[in-house]
Amino acid sequence: MLNPLLKQVVESPIGETKRWLDGRSFPIDRPLLNVSQAVPGYPPPDAMIEHIKDAASEFAAARYTPILGIPALRAALAADVSAQYGATIGENQVGITSGCNEAFCVATMAVAEAGTEIILPVPYYFNHDMWLRSVGISPVYLDTGDGMLPDPERASLLVNDRTRAIVLVTPNNPTGAIYPPALIEEFHDLAARNGIALIVDETYRDFLPDGAPHHLFSNSTWTETAIHLYSFSKVFSLTGYRVGAMIAGEQVLDQAAKLLDSLTICPPAIGQMAALFGLEHLDGWRADKRAEMQRKIERFVAAMAGTPWQVESAGAFFAYVRHPFVEVAARVVAERLLDEHSVLSLSGDMFGPGQEGYLRLAFGNLDEASVDVLVDRLLTARSS
Ligand SMILES: Cc1ncc(COP(=O)(O)O)c(C=O)c1O
Repeated sequence: MLNPLLKQVVESPIGETKRWLDGRSFPIDRPLLNVSQAVPGYPPPDAMIEHIKDAASEFAAARYTPILGIPALRAALAADVSAQYGATIGENQVGITSGCNEAFCVATMAVAEAGTEIILPVPYYFNHDMWLRSVGISPVYLDTGDGMLPDPERASLLVNDRTRAIVLVTPNNPTGAIYPPALIEEFHDLAARNGIALIVDETYRDFLPDGAPHHLFSNSTWTETAIHLYSFSKVFSLTGYRVGAMIAGEQVLDQAAKLLDSLTICPPAIGQMAALFGLEHLDGWRADKRAEMQRKIERFVAAMAGTPWQVESAGAFFAYVRHPFVEVAARVVAERLLDEHSVLSLSGDMFGPGQEGYLRLAFGNLDEASVDVLVDRLLTARSS
């Protein structure tokens, strides 16, 4: 009676690790450091909360919006991306979704049908893998190389007549790796040459270091190839409001709109009002959070240098570290870190094959001083 495709999909690692905390308490002198989920540990700013309170009293907040979102939000995001990427994005090329995960689901469904393939660099964001498998699209794994960067030449060997898209996540979850513009360009060329889509999830783009270039829309024919995915969850600390977006050619958005209508009819109105407020009023806050996140990552990388823990890559929201216990599976290391050091992390095996040696540490939930506590606890961990 149950869908066999879904039955073979693994359970979400987030659900599983949350259960590790069930019924557990932590010593007063060693409280939990939760570096498992990519969620900002701070609330939205007061101005945003006041705005949401006011917005909630408007009738419009209780009503459906257009399928692809409130026009003012589509226009504001088009302007934001145009300014940051040095591009000209029209509001008709922007679709607002109920979070970036929904954007991924409809983007992939817009370009690929069951029985086809999508190339996914490993380690991957697990919901991407889960979704593709759920709908009968085969994820084809592309191993990443130095600095956790995927190689377009290797990717080209995986393209065949069933391939519909390549997925990139930059800054990356889980590795924190930031893909250089030239690399994104090479993937764009590869996808364009083969008539397939390049789907780029930039959920963490607001946490790029100051001055780091944004890149995707420079090619004049990008609408034929590129699909850009975005989230308002992390930038404005709105994870529960469920607002994200996709930027694509109108031919892709037209197909996606059929799915969005059937799935959620529209993104939550109140979430869209919050996102619009953020784009219009919170540039300063966004910059402060970016700087804070950057300081945390730099502090962590500096403190780990020369230790047995190797920071394989780090940036934006994450560090991906090779643990020093060669003989021990990552999941066992993660469980021991929780038992003995009150550190909740995610183990590499949750992000795909061959990741046994790694842990993912997410920095959104830590204040700056806690970074040093995390380092101390990692460095005192033992192999057994
Ligand atoms: C790479 C990536 N894409 C999408 C999402 C989901 O974003 P949203 O909350 O907008 O659905 C996440 C959340 O962790 C993520 O890491």
